[in-house]
Amino acid sequence: MRGRNKKWAKEFILEHQELIYNKNIINDKSLTLEVGIGKGDFIIANAKNNLDYLHIGVEINESIFAIAMKKIVNENIANIKLINCPAMNLLEYVNENSISKIYLNFSDPWPQNGYRKRRLVHPLHLEIFEKLIIDGGMLYFKTDNLGLFEMGIRNFKIRNYEILSESYDYQLENDDYMTEYENKFRSLNMKIYRAVVKINKENLKSWNDAIK
Ligand SMILES: C[S@@+](CC[C@H](N)C(=O)[O-])C[C@H]1O[C@@H](n2cnc3c(N)ncnc32)[C@H](O)[C@@H]1O
Repeated sequence: MRGRNKKWAKEFILEHQELIYNKNIINDKSLTLEVGIGKGDFIIANAKNNLDYLHIGVEINESIFAIAMKKIVNENIANIKLINCPAMNLLEYVNENSISKIYLNFSDPWPQNGYRKRRLVHPLHLEIFEKLIIDGGMLYFKTDNLGLFEMGIRNFKIRNYEILSESYDYQLENDDYMTEYENKFRSLNMKIYRAVVKINKENLKSWNDAIK
């Protein structure tokens, strides 16, 4: 996601530390984690419609993070917390075995082979998500990029995640919400791909055949 650096971002984030998630936050709700929230449209809709969960949003880009944070402050949404970090560092801020649902929405595809380790469905990232998620937790993955989708599906299968659905022409379901990128792609009549998988930890297999 592109966007100019926002000069106000750093100060705004410092002023709203009450929205920042870390391992010491006391909370009795189940947790969801969205990685790469962009400007926050999905996490806000998900939070408003799922009040029983605390929704944690992760975003690497400080300016985009601040834009999402501003929306959450303005709408006074109580069940969202945020982390401004790369997915690779999540174990510093989130306890293992604590997340019920993980959402990857329109993750950057990094099509050049030299950058494939940056893809959020690369084994290096999936292993982090496996640590964070509870046993039997769910991963929701949607994208406009067929190459990224196929890599995800291949790795989910190699690792023996339980594939609950795999759609190559996904129509928005009732308990799902449009993201900013999805809105743009759907208005261009582009296909959306989506998989829902369950991660049963005792069933995980080795990465032998994964493209690393
Ligand atoms: C293509 S945008 C999609 C944004 C939003 N999910 C949507 O669907 O509208 C991808 C977002 O993920 C963020 N991102 C990319 N790599 C990330 C990483 N490793 N950790 C956290 N956020 C990341 C980018 O900064 C960007 O905001």
